[in-house]
Amino acid sequence: MKITYLSHSCFFIETESHRLIIDPFLTGNPLATVKATDVKCDYVLLTHGHADHLGDAVEIAKQNDATIIAVFELAMYCAAQGAKVRPMHIGGSGTFPLGRIKFTIAHHSSSVDTGNGIVYLGNPAGILLTVEGKTIFHAGDTGLFLDLKLIGEMNQIAVAILPIGDNFTMGIDDAVKAVEWLKPEITFPSHYNTFDLIKADAGEFVKKVEAVGAKARALAIGETWEG
Ligand code: NI
Ligand code: MN
Repeated sequence: MKITYLSHSCFFIETESHRLIIDPFLTGNPLATVKATDVKCDYVLLTHGHADHLGDAVEIAKQNDATIIAVFELAMYCAAQGAKVRPMHIGGSGTFPLGRIKFTIAHHSSSVDTGNGIVYLGNPAGILLTVEGKTIFHAGDTGLFLDLKLIGEMNQIAVAILPIGDNFTMGIDDAVKAVEWLKPEITFPSHYNTFDLIKADAGEFVKKVEAVGAKARALAIGETWEG
């Protein structure tokens, strides 16, 4: 399995047989180096409907005939724009040719600004993705919550992806506590430095994670981790 960081909350994952992208916010993202039109994938996974996550999902799904997998309301919103979708919901899991996907809670919101007011798109979520026998936990946007401990107890997490940018989500210290509860083999920080409001020092996060006996790595934008 290869995981490439495309900036913000966007990760591209390749297995032997499939390619998927999570939260493809590329157009209008000041840090993104990949264009939406260059993305080739089979699935698009979404944690919630905010523009910095939904991003180019519909366009990418349409151009690849890929399936968007998301919580029901967000999936239906994408389907209304012509994308192929698979609606799911929190606590439910599904088996796909690429692996197993389960949605978890996230303490956040999920909405889209239509230009004509905000439309709510159901609950925000985290994603447990098991491919090639390894489980990746993408927390989406969330504050710290105690159920992360339960998620860590019930899943052997190889890779955790946690927001560290503060303001809209957990900041560094809360994300370190999440690492202690999730017990992943490695954690990648996300959702930082894209905008002024979410500036964070990923090096500080990595040091603080190491201080609690765990491992983290701040992937450079475009960097691929193989595991
Ligand atoms: Ni958000
Ligand atoms: Mn966000």
